[in-house]
Amino acid sequence: MRIDIITCLPSLLESPFSHSILKRAQQKGLVTVEVHDLRDYAQNKHRQVDDYAYGGGAGMVLMIEPIMQCLDHLKSERHYDEIIYMSPDGEPLTQQVSNQLSLYKNIVILCGHYKGVDERVREHLITREISIGDYVLSGGELAAAVLADSVIRLLPGVLSDETSALSDSFQDNLIAPPVYTRPASFQGWKVPDVLLSGHERRIQEWRYEQALKRTQDRRPHLLE
Ligand code: ADE
Repeated sequence: MRIDIITCLPSLLESPFSHSILKRAQQKGLVTVEVHDLRDYAQNKHRQVDDYAYGGGAGMVLMIEPIMQCLDHLKSERHYDEIIYMSPDGEPLTQQVSNQLSLYKNIVILCGHYKGVDERVREHLITREISIGDYVLSGGELAAAVLADSVIRLLPGVLSDETSALSDSFQDNLIAPPVYTRPASFQGWKVPDVLLSGHERRIQEWRYEQALKRTQDRRPHLLE
């Protein structure tokens, strides 16, 4: 899979893809993440990519021209299955959305900043808008990193069998059950006996019950 991220703050996206699972996924050639600096597509020598909003009001708006130039450049090189704009008023990100995106070959993620992007970008240049939650971030970069992470870990070969994404919370509309590691007793706080029993079937049953209970307590709507 290939993920192209367009941003006017590329340095914000350096760290998330340079460690651990996401770094290894790229090294193994399972995903390519390319971050594009919107300023490289600016139409003037000041590399300006934003301007005041028509009608006044506080906050700068990302202009359509650099975004169009950057998208045209990318689209001339390959077909994109989805061009996503990260926005707090977009479709809520869920495991189902990530699962769907993980089946695509090429996607673009556009990060907004300041007061957002010129509305004509949303009307004409993008195919989907995604939000990571009902709160406002300073820009779309952290949201883009969240989306990309949730998608990349689903790609075949990224996680080993034991850490398979199939056992993640939400994957079967259930929250993952609790997990424990050594020591078996810490300050008198004990690991449930069943997990030490070595009885595979009882352990699986216990995990399923716990997942069900946790989902009932914390995200009952998933069971509806
Ligand atoms: N940009 C700013 N806030 C955001 C959010 N909650 N989700 C996605 N993109 C955003």
